[in-house]
Amino acid sequence: MAQLATTIGAFHFDNVLMNASGVHCYDLTQLHELEQSEAGSLTTKSATSAKRLGNPEPRYAKLALGSINSMGLPNEGLDYYLDFALTHQQQLPDQPIFMSIAGLTLEDNIAMAQKIEASDFAGLTELNLSCPNVPGKPQVGYDFDRTKYVLDTIFEFFTKPLGVKLPPYFDLAQFDEMAAILNQYPLVYVNTINSLGNGLWVDPTDDTVVIKPKGGFGGIGGQYAKPIALANVRAFSQRLKPEIQVIGTGGIYNGRDVYDLILCGASMVQVGSALYEEGPSIFARLKQELAAEMQAHGYHSIEDFRGKLKIMDAEA
Ligand code: SIN
Repeated sequence: MAQLATTIGAFHFDNVLMNASGVHCYDLTQLHELEQSEAGSLTTKSATSAKRLGNPEPRYAKLALGSINSMGLPNEGLDYYLDFALTHQQQLPDQPIFMSIAGLTLEDNIAMAQKIEASDFAGLTELNLSCPNVPGKPQVGYDFDRTKYVLDTIFEFFTKPLGVKLPPYFDLAQFDEMAAILNQYPLVYVNTINSLGNGLWVDPTDDTVVIKPKGGFGGIGGQYAKPIALANVRAFSQRLKPEIQVIGTGGIYNGRDVYDLILCGASMVQVGSALYEEGPSIFARLKQELAAEMQAHGYHSIEDFRGKLKIMDAEA
């Protein structure tokens, strides 16, 4: 039987699969369902200091090949997720989890990171630099100077294992520039990609957008995102220092999708749109399908093929 175990920094996980932040992790009911699923770990919904209701509904729509959403960071507030994380840690100390934070301001991120730093939370913290859905708040990850300033500020005091969630990039110069910045910090991982920000979909029955916020603009996920996720995982895996691992997110529907992200360099893989549609039982199916794919290739462990994407020889 293929072994699906993996590590991120000093943390061990029984398998590479987990939810993408924002999907099935809003409240205790959903979080407990993830705990009981066959996922290797879980992340809490990206939190702000105070509870937020998020954008007006409808704010999520299923599309032919994925989804569009403009949730706007609805969440119960950091304390709620920190309480859950501390309880989880006491009850399941061998199953480390991730806490995601997405402050609307740097001050909010600092306040939340300070609270996590001062707490007994011993898992991984993820700083979300890439939410595309809050009106008037551009994605920090597209502003390289701002990203550097935010990381400088957070690392002045934060000593716990930290990763960042990045937006998709589309140019090799962007990969070079962002990786050069990230390599300056003691990050444990980068998570790539968040949704393809500010897409749009038209309902042909009434010529109307399919979600209400932001005039219909929203983050695109699902199969539309897979090639971009593969490219971002590959590009950052090639450029980041070895201490910074890559979590791959985008376009996971079956075991082959998981395999492909690992082939591009991911040490862990997050599931978004398909988890939303199928629910947490998806993890058992993905585990079986990934194991079958590995067996078909003669691989026994994740490290046997992680990052071993083949490319074609350049023509002379
Ligand atoms: C949202 O709540 O709008 C999604 C969060 C994200 O994309 O980071």
